[in-house]
Amino acid sequence: MAPGKDALEAGQTAPDLEIVGNQVTIHPTGFTGGSDTQDDGITERNLVRHMARFRENPFEFLREVSLFVSGTGWRAYDQIIGQPIFYPGFSDRIKGLILESPILRNKISELAEARLKVEETEGLLGATPEAIEKAKTRRRSEIEGNLREVVDTMMDNMICKMDSNTFIRSAYYLCTQLLTRAYHQGIHVSSEEVLRLRSVAEEATKKKHSIVFLPCHKSHVDYVSLQIICYRLGIGLPIVVAGDNLNFPLVGSFLQHAGAMWIRRSFGNDPLYHTVVQTYIDVILQQGYNFECFIEGGRSRTGKLLSPKFGILNFIVDSLLSGRVEDAVICPVSTQYDKVIETESYISELLGQPKPKENLANFLSSSSVLSLKLGRVDVRFHKPWSLREFLNQQLTRLGQSPSSNSKITLNQSDRGRILRTLGYRVLSDINAVSVMMPTALVGTVLLTLRGRGVGKAELVRRVEWLCERVRAKGGRVAHFYRAPTAQVVDRALEVLGPKLVGEVTGLVEPTYYAVDRFQLSFYRNMTIHLFITEALVSAAMYTRVKQGGGPAHQRITYDALLAQVSFLSQLFRGEFIFPPEGLTANLDKTLRGLEKDNVIKVTRDPAGHPTHIELSDAERECGRENFDFYCFLIWPFIEASWLGAVSLMGLTPPFDGPSDVWIDMKKAQDSAQLLGKTLYHQGDLSYFEAVNKETLKNAYHQFAEEGIILVATSKEQRTPTTMRLAPEWTPERDPTTGKLLNRGRLWDFTERIAMSRREGKNRRDGATVSSRVLAMTDAVGRELFRNAAASSDAADLNVSSRKQRRTSIETRANL
Ligand SMILES: *[C@@H]1O[C@H](CO)[C@@H](O)[C@H](O)[C@H]1NC(C)=O
Ligand SMILES: *[C@@H]1O[C@H](CO)[C@@H](O)[C@H](O)[C@H]1NC(C)=O
Ligand SMILES: *[C@@H]1O[C@H](CO)[C@@H](O)[C@H](O)[C@H]1NC(C)=O
Repeated sequence: MAPGKDALEAGQTAPDLEIVGNQVTIHPTGFTGGSDTQDDGITERNLVRHMARFRENPFEFLREVSLFVSGTGWRAYDQIIGQPIFYPGFSDRIKGLILESPILRNKISELAEARLKVEETEGLLGATPEAIEKAKTRRRSEIEGNLREVVDTMMDNMICKMDSNTFIRSAYYLCTQLLTRAYHQGIHVSSEEVLRLRSVAEEATKKKHSIVFLPCHKSHVDYVSLQIICYRLGIGLPIVVAGDNLNFPLVGSFLQHAGAMWIRRSFGNDPLYHTVVQTYIDVILQQGYNFECFIEGGRSRTGKLLSPKFGILNFIVDSLLSGRVEDAVICPVSTQYDKVIETESYISELLGQPKPKENLANFLSSSSVLSLKLGRVDVRFHKPWSLREFLNQQLTRLGQSPSSNSKITLNQSDRGRILRTLGYRVLSDINAVSVMMPTALVGTVLLTLRGRGVGKAELVRRVEWLCERVRAKGGRVAHFYRAPTAQVVDRALEVLGPKLVGEVTGLVEPTYYAVDRFQLSFYRNMTIHLFITEALVSAAMYTRVKQGGGPAHQRITYDALLAQVSFLSQLFRGEFIFPPEGLTANLDKTLRGLEKDNVIKVTRDPAGHPTHIELSDAERECGRENFDFYCFLIWPFIEASWLGAVSLMGLTPPFDGPSDVWIDMKKAQDSAQLLGKTLYHQGDLSYFEAVNKETLKNAYHQFAEEGIILVATSKEQRTPTTMRLAPEWTPERDPTTGKLLNRGRLWDFTERIAMSRREGKNRRDGATVSSRVLAMTDAVGRELFRNAAASSDAADLNVSSRKQRRTSIETRANL
């Protein structure tokens, strides 16, 4: 959903608010923030000077803004917009409300009753009917008492304890100090958006509705900055859903008193826990406390927006559909960083170094980063909307009559559909308000150039070009008070630092090159979603362009293009969110766009249907720079899928063993990584970034959906997920030598991916490569089979008792 022109223009002309320390600074339109960036200068920026400029450009909200700029009231955080929080006895009140809830009480008696049944059939309750009745009454209250104790412990570990105002005031002070020391240029919000948010909050408070913040998630800083903004604006701090793996000593309790609610990462088979979470969320929404949960579940390690997770959304939707909660206000939030604190640890995690357990020491050592200059944080709030209205629309679409106060029951597939629509709507709202940070722009440019390095002037030109492309695609670029692009680029280079971008001096002009391409790709991955359809079309055209020859030889028929584009979009279904109009509509729109930009030439038949597609003359003359840009964006993804597919070839059972061995999925992915590293260093893989755990995991997931591999999951948590090649996909071996043969379904599939791969400088896709690569993957695979054989002897795996998981067609998102 692209924002309208108005929204775009508003985004560019409305002033920014900058929060650094206790200062809120207004930057009106036209202010160039570049020249006085001395560190302390920022906090001390003369407000009056800005006010003077401000008067030339008066906004009606000036009065309101001045209220919190002048300061006295907000520091106390006592007259907030929202339901009262941070007072003694807050948690006890919440616990009381949870315990009173009918659904929890019913669950407790239901569980007690089930237990009594068991005890009765086991004959534990006595022999005569009277004795049984008597024992039952006694046992019932005993069991229910026990269960209530269990609930009490669960609540104590889970609920957020907003009990002390003094605490939150000092926490605010502490966090602001730490955060704005790391992000020395402060937290930026659009004043227009936060004022809208305040008025929405006022409205919601009157109706006792909650605001549900649904941010994207890249860093732990996400929730800290949102809390700081809410505090500073005087809005009720949200209760934040957090996985209890972060609940380490001291810090865990600190967070729990500042807004975190802890939930288990996996609920397993615990109906009571499930009910307690549902009840707590009911209570939060009934009482109109603000709420926050990360729509992607965990933090995105790759920089790309992940697909939505539905766990918590499901609870929220249940609260409304059941009629227990009247309404809630949804507010999608986008948080963007110049530089994400965690990128370095993400990289080592993605490269397969073991992940250190979260603990206090790690937390503190990562805060040694706090002396770094990481630039700024930009937080954007989408226009909030009513969840009830959304649900009513969806129910009408499903042919159900919506009603606000009675229970609505939906079957699994209808509910799933509503949740998916909700999740993807939030993601698209987040994308619509996201701003591209200069670091993302510079990173993208550096990784989409053919040359070894790039001169300053060219870099600036390309960044300007990219800004234009981003805007044309309905994206927003962080605005820097109209500073010239050269200055913005300098700032970005400074924030990225010499570990990511190197500079060669002593040349005709300063020349920059990517030092750490892997880490830099994090920033590139933040822009790819805007260009995904163009990138797929370009990758499909590349299958011909790569063959060289004259322009006539490089054109592709529409049918061939369509076939490859649909193959690739199927392959990346789990990686990207495609526009919802459907494949051919998207393709036609994309072709028209590229044609309009004069990148391609489309030949049409008399009826107007495209028949052939080729690069335009203009594009050839400028050295294919647009086409290359799109290809460079998608190539690492293609490379990663190719690596995944090649690693599957190695899972062909060797002759000298049983043919139905199930391989530990995680070990298979680790081996694929090892294979990738080997191929990279031997020159058969062009992108080191492709050796990425997360991407390989996605690829395997997709292979399972395609039915290429069979996956067996076990209900027991300790048993690992295992996999094997589906029989119809298993490659053949040469009967005499036992070598893998380069033919068959899986081979063709791999080749189809390879068609869009980048032709390497020192690699030609030919027979030697394929035999070398096949030998390598076979060697890696053998090791897996050897290990599997060893461990299955030990554990005596009973494969047939495992449940095979097949994702049904219905649950696939058609997006
Ligand atoms: C960005 O995405 C590409 C493609 O999936 C991947 O290979 C790369 O490793 C990602 N970068 C990071 C830092 O995760
Ligand atoms: C779910 O209910 C809808 C009607 O509300 C119906 O059309 C659909 O077939 C049902 N699906 C299943 C799996 O029962
Ligand atoms: C494996 O488990 C299934 C079902 O639990 C059982 O019927 C079968 O006999 C078991 N096979 C072996 C070899 O233990």
